[in-house]
Amino acid sequence: MTTVDAGVEKWRKISDRIDARLAELLPSETETPGPLHAAMRYAALSPGKRVRPILCLAFATACGKDDRVALDAACAIEMVHAFSLIHDDLPAIDNDDLRRGRPTCHKQFTEAIAILAGDALFALSGEIMLSTGNVAACQTLAAAVKRLVQGEMLDVLSEGKEIDPETLRFIHINKTGALISASCAIGALLSDAPAELVAKANEFGEDIGLAFQIADDILNVEGDPSQTGKSVGSDAERKKATYPALYGLEDAKARARELAAQAEGCLQDFPGDVEPLRALARFSIERLH
Ligand code: IPE
Ligand code: IPE
Ligand code: MG
Ligand code: MG
Repeated sequence: MTTVDAGVEKWRKISDRIDARLAELLPSETETPGPLHAAMRYAALSPGKRVRPILCLAFATACGKDDRVALDAACAIEMVHAFSLIHDDLPAIDNDDLRRGRPTCHKQFTEAIAILAGDALFALSGEIMLSTGNVAACQTLAAAVKRLVQGEMLDVLSEGKEIDPETLRFIHINKTGALISASCAIGALLSDAPAELVAKANEFGEDIGLAFQIADDILNVEGDPSQTGKSVGSDAERKKATYPALYGLEDAKARARELAAQAEGCLQDFPGDVEPLRALARFSIERLH
């Protein structure tokens, strides 16, 4: 068993608890309008890695709390992620047919249903965050979504263009890093952690988030679709701005490794168990193999 397999095994239990709560929080397909709710459940419950909600719960643990304090917020974050993926896969954006080894939401339903299911997931996530009563956590998630949309916008605007390293970094830290760092910070905020630890959680997430998107770019070049559940080569086809395209595969891998090591350095002052977070930092780059 590789380290990644062992890590995945360990997180499966956490991921099962997240899925069970997500299934309760999502509207039933029997409620009108059925197709909207079916598409929301299809996108949010399909087999993803659940990295963001796991990070959120792992930071509650690192802060010395029972991770249930962050469970509903973790589900809200995963709903935001599912919404961003539905819209990212649409013909107007990445035009992808495969997501998590299944047809993308608009392929399975229709474009209209997919767009509205994304909107509805975002609205539901807001309602769930508000029910935590934690204003800073709500603001953190809203700010992350603003950054995610800015990153997606620049990604679209950069298609087919030569871009400089600074623009590429802006795209990656915003379209992917923002929600990942917010997941970490929200876990700490809901644990009533002091501001210094919230900042460290956020910094860990920024590093991991960038490493994670670089790894995603690399997997689009040399990944195995049966493992990633997504098409390979689509970035190059659409002339996307990516780390391997700008720096080459080897430099991109080295940068991802550096960032993961940097992230681990943020974990020193947490009072609780940080081992799961160390494992996640390693996973974000080990998934390259
Ligand atoms: C995919 O995210 C999109 C990126 C921001 C890289 P994940 O790799 O976390 O996707 P799932 O949730 O496991 O499908
Ligand atoms: C997805 O980025 C980021 C968001 C959905 C915000 P990508 O387009 O690079 O991710 P994949 O490869 O489709 O998962
Ligand atoms: Mg995209
Ligand atoms: Mg995409």
